[in-house]
Amino acid sequence: MLPKRTLSIAPMLDWTDRHYRYMARQITKNTWLYTEMINAGAIIHGDPNRFLLKNECENPIALQLGGSDSADLAKAAAKAAQYGYDEINLNCGCPSPRVQKGAFGACLMNEVNLVSGCLNAIQDAAPNCDITIKHRIGLDKQTEYQPLADFVGELARSTNCRTFIVHARNAWLDGLSPKENRDVPPLRYDYVYQLKQEFVDLEIIINGGITTNEQIHQHLQYVDGVMVGREAYHNPMLMKSWDAQFYGDTTPEITYDELINRLYDYAKIQLAANRGTILRHMARHYLGLMHGLHGARTWRRMLSDADLLKSNRAELLLEALAMVREDSH
Ligand SMILES: Cc1cc2nc3c(=O)[nH]c(=O)nc-3n(C[C@H](O)[C@H](O)[C@H](O)COP(=O)(O)O)c2cc1C
Repeated sequence: MLPKRTLSIAPMLDWTDRHYRYMARQITKNTWLYTEMINAGAIIHGDPNRFLLKNECENPIALQLGGSDSADLAKAAAKAAQYGYDEINLNCGCPSPRVQKGAFGACLMNEVNLVSGCLNAIQDAAPNCDITIKHRIGLDKQTEYQPLADFVGELARSTNCRTFIVHARNAWLDGLSPKENRDVPPLRYDYVYQLKQEFVDLEIIINGGITTNEQIHQHLQYVDGVMVGREAYHNPMLMKSWDAQFYGDTTPEITYDELINRLYDYAKIQLAANRGTILRHMARHYLGLMHGLHGARTWRRMLSDADLLKSNRAELLLEALAMVREDSH
């Protein structure tokens, strides 16, 4: 049986690729992982291996799709099911102008019937996968609760989607960059709590600006799950107590030594596989691992040093760990 979505790591373009996810999975076994948003068209017309290949250990894992053409989404979902994804998530929260031009992402919040058709098409094409949606609380300067509730209510009525991941701020489609759209529109956690009160049978997951385990505990009093994005990337070891704290899992927490050794073994295999992976592709996701520890700067410096990385030796990870240890004596 799959674990609950009590905790999940947010989909993040360019960040939550399979190398990051492999590391995250070593730190927490139960937390749900999400891929970067993948355009449905890219899966259909490109090389599906490039977009869908994942490590066996990554489950439970969701593929996040971007798109608004239900036929394309269905084809992409059918492919994803073959690769062993547990969940397919539709992106209705991305505000980037490039995405708006393709008429998907956050602007879909204005098109509930279209979204409903897309979710149903995905479900038909991948009947064994959970189907979920990630969206905002509203668009532009629209600040009422009711349109949000109408959006969720209509999708709950017209589709089998039972899991709603809500980034608790509006998307401002004009004038803000995607980065600003993750910080500037104010957070309204109360709207997400209200959704859970109104739709008790739905699984409501809260996202946005959550950075500590205390905050996670707080939110879990009101909603079913918490999705963490940037903090899980910049400070991955935040997750080492999650299995015990939030899933009652008694397996001991992974130690830094054990983790770096596993990453070393992984890097050796990836480099030998000859699929074009270089050490930097993996090491760039490991920079935050020592966050808050003495030696964090040494670690970051070594793993981002172009000359050291050039040699493409997995041993660099062990050497950097040894330097960190030396620093802390
Ligand atoms: C670098 C980066 C890339 C992102 N890419 C996506 C994406 O592909 N799909 C998506 O739904 N959200 C994306 N997001 C938004 C996150 O999933 C999340 O909603 C947002 O960062 C707020 O959560 P946080 O405050 O915990 O980071 C991205 C965020 C960042 C920082």
